[in-house]
Amino acid sequence: KNRRPLVLANWKMNMQPEDVAPYLDVILPEVEKDEDADVAVAGQNLYLAQMVQQSKGSRLAIAAQDAHWEDKGAFTGETSPKALKAIGVSYVMIGHFERRKLFNETDERVNLKTKAALKNGLKPIVDLDEDLSAYDGQALDQVELGQLKKALDGISEEEMQNVAIAYEPTWAIGSGEAASAEQAEQSAALIRASLANLYNQDLADQTRILYGGSVNTDNAASFFKQEDIDGILVGKAALNPQTFLDLIDIAQ
Ligand code: G3H
Repeated sequence: KNRRPLVLANWKMNMQPEDVAPYLDVILPEVEKDEDADVAVAGQNLYLAQMVQQSKGSRLAIAAQDAHWEDKGAFTGETSPKALKAIGVSYVMIGHFERRKLFNETDERVNLKTKAALKNGLKPIVDLDEDLSAYDGQALDQVELGQLKKALDGISEEEMQNVAIAYEPTWAIGSGEAASAEQAEQSAALIRASLANLYNQDLADQTRILYGGSVNTDNAASFFKQEDIDGILVGKAALNPQTFLDLIDIAQ
């Protein structure tokens, strides 16, 4: 694999204000040594400016958990991708399962948000959660994954250089029951095949695909060994900074 590993911690709506700086204090010196992986932390919006400040000049990238599709306007409660870029945020997660399930995120919005993120120079991590088992046995050159296709509609090959895809089986999220490495690889391979069909093989070979869903220090290595899995999206286990560091070590 010549794709650079990406390790993303998603704090979700966890962490109190007093937890943020100590967490970064623990990981920042170590992340500097980890030159063989990209590392990012996605915090609640209200912490992002502080996180960017604290990690300035380091290799740690800060991620938002969502962003709106317009740069500005009358959208009470929403977050502007332009403003995220302006304060120094690097990545933005789009279409996480919890957004889709609890906040009525549609494929159309995922697409609009992905385009807006790219337009503003943010790197979107597009999250897929649909049940890929329906594709069992289908010829790879015919695979067309609905959620993926809709999310990327109208996004150019050039823009795709800045997009990563994350796949999370819904039953594995926060359940303590991760997919097996083989199951996860099968899904990642389907996603890559679908990217090759939507774009081309080169683009598919360059795009990073992450697995998420109950990743921990016991199972992380098995995911990284898979040909098509280039990173992990970690919720619960990454709430502990030491555990997150262990996961980063495993990635390299
Ligand atoms: O964004 C993270 C994923 O939803 C996985 O969460 O590691 O707590 O299962 P989890």
